[in-house]
Amino acid sequence: MTIVFCNGKGGAGKTTLSILLGCALADAGRRVGLIDRDSQKTATRWLQETESGVELAVAGETYDATIIDTPPRLESDAVHQSLREADRVVLVSSPSPADLWTSQETSKVIQNHYRGKKAALLFNQVQRNTTLAREMPRLGERIGLAPLKCQVGRRQSYQHAMLLGWKALDAPAREEILQVSLEIITF
Ligand SMILES: Nc1ncnc2c1ncn2[C@@H]1O[C@H](COP(=O)(O)OP(=O)(O)OP(=O)(O)O)[C@@H](O)[C@H]1O
Ligand SMILES: [Mg+2]
Repeated sequence: MTIVFCNGKGGAGKTTLSILLGCALADAGRRVGLIDRDSQKTATRWLQETESGVELAVAGETYDATIIDTPPRLESDAVHQSLREADRVVLVSSPSPADLWTSQETSKVIQNHYRGKKAALLFNQVQRNTTLAREMPRLGERIGLAPLKCQVGRRQSYQHAMLLGWKALDAPAREEILQVSLEIITF
């Protein structure tokens, strides 16, 4: 299975979720390869500096799951190549109406590649029990991609994971990522 995270907007959480999904699958005993198509190479650096169980993908090797992190530029060939290769696409967006509206462009690009294939919207950096958290799924449908039921909260431990890897996650964070991961591989 090849899963790509994308959004034409920077800072949505593509790299964070690419790595955390990889960690969750690796923790469950799967062989995970990550392809870092962003020239900033944040994901590469993260994997080099922490113990995650996730490998940087090598051409010719076989993985249970291949995860592709993409740059925040829709015009980039790297984004289009990734969309062509993916079995499922996750558009990551913050739960802000402005960010969601700019995500609409990304949604259109995904749908051009993905007519009838598997693509979904994932809200990241959600603050629980807020009006935005409640209203986002409804707004999400208006940009043309079904939102996943799971949302990812704003948690410091996801930032700590960049330093310390999967083990930096406390139990609620780990549970949240496991639930999101399960939904991503089964939607
Ligand atoms: N759920 C979260 N809770 C707290 N911090 C988060 C969360 N998701 C992302 N961040 C933080 O937000 C910042 C941007 O995240 P990240 O680098 O994953 O975004 P990106 O979409 O890959 O950005 P770029 O487009 O620049 O590659 C990072 O500092 C990251 O630690
Ligand atoms: Mg990134």
